[in-house]
Amino acid sequence: MKSHSIALIPGDGIGRDVTAAAWTVLETAAKNFGFALTGTEFPWSCRFFKETGRMLPEDGIETLRGFDAILLGAVGWPAEVPDSVSLHGLLLPIRKAFVQYANIRPHRLLPGVKGPLRAENFDILCIRENTEGEYSGAGGRVHQGTLDEVAVETSIFTRAGVERILRFGFEQARSRQRKLASVTKSNAQKYSMVFWDEITRKLAADYPDVEVTSYHVDALAARMIMAPESLDVVVASNLFGDILTDIGAAIQGGLGYAASANINPDRSAPSMFEPVHGSAPDIAHLGIANPIATIWSGAMMLDHLGEKAAAGRVMKAVEATTARGIGTTPGKDSTEAITAAIVAALT
Ligand code: IPM
Ligand code: MN
Repeated sequence: MKSHSIALIPGDGIGRDVTAAAWTVLETAAKNFGFALTGTEFPWSCRFFKETGRMLPEDGIETLRGFDAILLGAVGWPAEVPDSVSLHGLLLPIRKAFVQYANIRPHRLLPGVKGPLRAENFDILCIRENTEGEYSGAGGRVHQGTLDEVAVETSIFTRAGVERILRFGFEQARSRQRKLASVTKSNAQKYSMVFWDEITRKLAADYPDVEVTSYHVDALAARMIMAPESLDVVVASNLFGDILTDIGAAIQGGLGYAASANINPDRSAPSMFEPVHGSAPDIAHLGIANPIATIWSGAMMLDHLGEKAAAGRVMKAVEATTARGIGTTPGKDSTEAITAAIVAALT
């Protein structure tokens, strides 16, 4: 029997609730489709940090490298560990070390889910550059704590990095509506963003079948709200993509539905799948976190592992469940009830 090894990092807060729920669904799908998923759980989290002084053991990255994929719940417990420490200790190093340069986030309304907009027929795929740009981590502070203090944080855009994410966006557009929105702020940022626009124009010649439009990020943010159905694939830098995908999550009904995949397209290292939402300390362990974003991320993981039929079936089960009004109103259905309904719809 074919088998896929998965590293499970439930992390903090509701990350633990939703990872367990998604795992139940994924194991059921695997059983039904005749393949095996072996999960190995790692306790890496803010609690682990309190115990060991590290978010990830020294050999953590090397340990993860041996897996076929990583399923992550959420990282962060700001009451005890500053976010700048926890995220730079776990989530962000994994994205970089495993060259997961494409962060893919689908934004559409599941049946039965009410979004805040009048528009209902949008289907946007955001592709966020995930390893450089504004998240490069290059910078520093001098004269700390004094009136002369200076903080510098430099965005780094490389030709290789920009080209590969744009090509990835063009390819995705090809498999969909053949429309690509390339997002910058080149009217204000005259080096990096003009560079991005130039590369977009250059690559467009290789994809004459894709209609590419360059937008400024402010205008694109407004368009996601005013005319989301006009968009297909959106490709943006790390920070712009981060912000736009929170808008995407909002218009699809909330973070409980926002799935994401951190993909290493070359498959030289494992990819990582995680819901967009954070650890939501206020509702952690109350049993009411919506597991759908994580289950959807899990379906993206199955797809990446080549289990396309199972991935499609999981999404059908999620859609059948929300169409019945289960998991569509925050706080109404428990994590367990939503999970059970999806499992039932799978079998
Ligand atoms: C996301 C999150 C992270 C990011 C944070 C937690 C560092 O907001 O995945 O969108 O900015 O990448
Ligand atoms: Mn974000």
